Amino acid sequence: MSDLDPSRLPAHVAVIMDGNGRWAETRGWPRPFGHRQGSEAVRRIVRASRRLGIRALTLYAFSEQNWQRPEGEVDALMELLREFLLSERDELLDNGIRLRMIGRRERLPSRVREVLEALERETEGLSDMTLTLALSYGGREELTDAVRLLAAQVAEGRLAPSDLDEARLEAAIPSMDVGPCDLLIRTGGEQRISNFLLWSAAYAELVFSERLWPDFQDADLLDALGVYQARDRRFGRVSSAASMATSDVLMPDAASRAHA
Ligand code: FPP
Repeated sequence: MSDLDPSRLPAHVAVIMDGNGRWAETRGWPRPFGHRQGSEAVRRIVRASRRLGIRALTLYAFSEQNWQRPEGEVDALMELLREFLLSERDELLDNGIRLRMIGRRERLPSRVREVLEALERETEGLSDMTLTLALSYGGREELTDAVRLLAAQVAEGRLAPSDLDEARLEAAIPSMDVGPCDLLIRTGGEQRISNFLLWSAAYAELVFSERLWPDFQDADLLDALGVYQARDRRFGRVSSAASMATSDVLMPDAASRAHA
């Protein structure tokens, strides 16, 4: 933390936790062992983020496309999620962490959904940090659902097509509930977004780590935050602080959202 400027931490960090399978395979172990070790990394990074004062952490734990994995792997992931939710309850409550999920919750098995929803209710009023688990989540699916919701309002005559603007669409996108993503970290060496937070990450700084997720440590998070702080965030403008006033006049909406 010593090299970081606490006043310029990203408000919202999101992580694509990639590399569990490879972590296990290089040891000759079944892939679910990698996921189990990955859930230990989740515990570490949630704690570290809370300690650092990050306001929102969003983790890509299961994509809509992950349902196509072998049944045994899907079952193992669902069981790990359930165990995680049960075991972290006190940690979340003691540390003021609100838990929520984004994604198609109706697709989750009821044994996971029940524990998840109970914890969402229990932590609803907590505000030191929001931990969002993206489960059965896809960025395109999230945008499609938002558009469908607004289209229904138009069809019912509650909304005029001309009222449909960026702000209304944004309000219908659940991942935007905690504000736009400032820093998106992907572990495991691949460099792509993989259908994660498509709207929210529009101006996110992207940091790609070679580290496989189960090996990801507090120090790796600090490194990513250091890279973030070394970047010049321009939001489409010509330079950072110097042109702020002009840009604020030209793009007042964007400037009000660009909080970092
Ligand atoms: C990607 O690695 C990771 C996943 C699909 C699942 C992420 C799940 C966890 C980290 C553990 C459970 C989550 C919680 C919140 C307790 P991969 O399997 O695609 O790895 P590979 O690219 O090496 O095959």
